[in-house]
Amino acid sequence: MAVASAPGKLILFGEHFVVYGLPAIATAIESRTVAEVYRARNYSLVDNRPETPSYKKEKYDQQLDSIQRIFKAMGVAETKVRIVLGGDLVTASGVGASGASCSAIAAALNEEFKFSLDREKINKVAYEGEKGYHGTPSGIDNSCSTFGGFIWFKKDLASGKSMIKPMDSRISLSIVIGNTGITSNTTKVVEDVKKEKEKDPEKFKRIFENYMRIVEDAKAALEKKDLNTIGQLMNKNHTLLKEISVSCPELEELVAIALKSGALGAKLTGTGRGGLMIALVTNETKDKVASAIEQAGYKSEITTIGAEGVKVV
Ligand code: MEV
Repeated sequence: MAVASAPGKLILFGEHFVVYGLPAIATAIESRTVAEVYRARNYSLVDNRPETPSYKKEKYDQQLDSIQRIFKAMGVAETKVRIVLGGDLVTASGVGASGASCSAIAAALNEEFKFSLDREKINKVAYEGEKGYHGTPSGIDNSCSTFGGFIWFKKDLASGKSMIKPMDSRISLSIVIGNTGITSNTTKVVEDVKKEKEKDPEKFKRIFENYMRIVEDAKAALEKKDLNTIGQLMNKNHTLLKEISVSCPELEELVAIALKSGALGAKLTGTGRGGLMIALVTNETKDKVASAIEQAGYKSEITTIGAEGVKVV
């Protein structure tokens, strides 16, 4: 029997833009998914992860497809394994729940079957698993769960290869997560954005140029630990995400509440049209922002970012 855990992730800058080969910045959070792997006579899966209501049901078929892809990528006969998922990462759209579970399962299988795969290879297997959830994922979620810390991620569209650069940011940032409670469908939202882009390429050209300035400035601000600038850039990134129509009334409400109660910046994170909002806070403002979100009827969580990647437990 083997056990591995992997953290959830938050995209600080660049969801959706990353699909078009633009760079993004993502970070691992404290909460983790734990995968236990047992040799068994029949395949079975027990999913004990805490969830946003209906998340697991909605993702059930995708999860099955994902696990089969992981088995195939590793050359493991699926009939011989029992998987138990747990941990404190609440499955929700936006937090990289699928990437974390793919990475943790790959690492646990690697340990149990003594494949001696390094982190890069575990990440490749996790990426195969991610395909079961989102068709053509950029790979940012599984990479963040596998490598941890802060990553600068860019996909080369011609070769399909990802460039993953760990960022030298020792900065410890506090984030308040606000959960819309809505499970979003990444494949569909990514597809809708693609259609919008085909309809209005000029608009997207302008948005992409604006975004490039934002992400370059964000990299510099993270390196300088300039919290005010990071917050302002998150706001700007959110405006662009709104323009490509991936926000929704609940996310707008969460952003407004966070900013009104003192957050330095706020934006949707991940797929959008549901899922999560993240707000950059300080020690002084974090409780106020979290409780304002709860008072409005949403779930909130305070987390610090830059956590460790996948590991055998
Ligand atoms: C989902 O967490 C992030 C998206 O950019 C899709 C992807 O990168 O595959 C929306």
